[in-house]
Amino acid sequence: MWDQRYATDEFMYGTEPNTFLAEHAQRLVGPVLSLAEGEGRNAVYLASLGLDVLGVDSSAVGLAKAQRLAAANGTTIQTEVVDLTRYTPPPQAFGSVISIFAHLPSEDRKRLHRVVENALKPGGIMLLEGYSQAQLAYGTGGPKDLNMLLTRADIESEFPHCEILLSREIEREVIEGQLHTGMASVVQFVGRKRER
Ligand SMILES: C[S@@+](CC[C@H](N)C(=O)[O-])C[C@H]1O[C@@H](n2cnc3c(N)ncnc32)[C@H](O)[C@@H]1O
Repeated sequence: MWDQRYATDEFMYGTEPNTFLAEHAQRLVGPVLSLAEGEGRNAVYLASLGLDVLGVDSSAVGLAKAQRLAAANGTTIQTEVVDLTRYTPPPQAFGSVISIFAHLPSEDRKRLHRVVENALKPGGIMLLEGYSQAQLAYGTGGPKDLNMLLTRADIESEFPHCEILLSREIEREVIEGQLHTGMASVVQFVGRKRER
């Protein structure tokens, strides 16, 4: 499905970074692992700040566009086609992990969050934004399946080794490409992995 969606010259989520990510990018340290990177808007933005970024996604078409976007911006990013329901990054390899609108079935998400928290170095930053369960009523983007949507409590419990720097569920206007446009309900989280 995602390969089909991305098989157009248009960038479905635009080429500007996610606004929550841009607001908190100064907290990030490299190397950065970007989950469900899609067409590259977030990875290319972080690379333009001088960070090393690995963007992973199951869509080869999306990641090819990400590489083209990086080249067009004079930046370099690493990309890897992976299935996040099975992917396990190496332990303590990343200074930051970002997850922007990466929606998986809850059991797969819980497993992924366990392994990506383990992939953070001590002191590393976890940054996430995704649609909350209240988003079902908004109809402005995201999966139509409650099981793939987020609660703040779930996200807090899925990063038990992180000190919470920011955690909230808010209503905000999301204007990030034709598939994500309008008032939306999102969960936002920034955590720092404890040193021990
Ligand atoms: C809503 S898009 C968000 C893309 C990007 N994070 C952004 O904000 O522009 C969701 C992305 O999740 C990816 N995805 C969905 N299921 C996946 C899976 N099991 N493994 C890897 N990527 C997956 C899709 O290919 C798609 O690029």
